[in-house]
Amino acid sequence: MTRYAFFDLLPPQATMLDDVLAGLTATPKQIAPKYFYDARGCELFEAICALPEYYPTRTELAIMAAHAPAMAAELGNDCTLIEIGCGNSEKSRLLLDALRPPEFVAVDIAAEQLQVSCDALSQALPQMKTVALRADFEWPLAIPAAAGLQAPRRALYFPGSTIGNFTPAHARDFLSRWAPVLGRGGGALIGVDLKKDRARLDAAYNDAQGVTAAFNLNLLARFNRELGAAFDLAAFRHRAFYAESAGRIEMHLESQRAQSVAIGSTQIDFAAQETIRSEISCKYSIAEFQQLGRDAGYVPQCHWTDAEQLFAVFFFALPA
Ligand code: AVJ
Repeated sequence: MTRYAFFDLLPPQATMLDDVLAGLTATPKQIAPKYFYDARGCELFEAICALPEYYPTRTELAIMAAHAPAMAAELGNDCTLIEIGCGNSEKSRLLLDALRPPEFVAVDIAAEQLQVSCDALSQALPQMKTVALRADFEWPLAIPAAAGLQAPRRALYFPGSTIGNFTPAHARDFLSRWAPVLGRGGGALIGVDLKKDRARLDAAYNDAQGVTAAFNLNLLARFNRELGAAFDLAAFRHRAFYAESAGRIEMHLESQRAQSVAIGSTQIDFAAQETIRSEISCKYSIAEFQQLGRDAGYVPQCHWTDAEQLFAVFFFALPA
């Protein structure tokens, strides 16, 4: 029995090839982190979340467990909750149990995870209308009219510190693009990884078991599988470091030698030690992120954090 409506709004595969070729012919070479999340990438990311070094997931979960009722009170239970990058839905469940909204829209690029999450959530909360949108959430969605949403207000839930994948300027533009979709009186609940000592950050992206390295290298394996690329995975290495002046982790794939790699009919040349930047993960202070919200047209209302101030969840409102 289908308990929720599913809409696939993702553009066709051709876009990935064009995007990857554009990124690998640019200087410096880069790939958008959304391409990490094929089925294998989702599995590896789940494994990252359980690593002893990777504090964000368990810290955010603890914040949600402690404060979901307070968050729900801020959001108001007459809203459509729109979650972007919904992942495995553990955090959504904590929030939804407290909020009990009439309508829930889950947006993710990974179809399988989206379905598993929406199956579980719509079963647990049968009186809530659940809508799944497979989409690249970077571009705010015109939610299909066929979804039949009716709640008077909308709120965005963007957990996981995924907003860190954008530069601060990009994150600001991203939030201001969402504002008209949320509408007057709307809100946004956003999970953000905070600035902290370098050793802690470096360790979180260079785990001892090499799961993060496997996650990073899976990008090349995926291009081999799906784009007919010929990457030799042994000829690239995972590199991750905290770039303190920019306040961000950078992840790269470093070519171990000069080499030329075919992607379909295109050859991409790498110098020895040349890298592909595969991800940035920006870290904020509380004041920096509040200012970013203001710059995007929101009014910061409150935030919740853990005792060590590793992670914070912010609630921003849009003027009524
Ligand atoms: C999913 C973007 C929040 O930036 O920490 C984890 C992804 N990359 N380890 C992050 C990630 C390497 C993660 N986000």
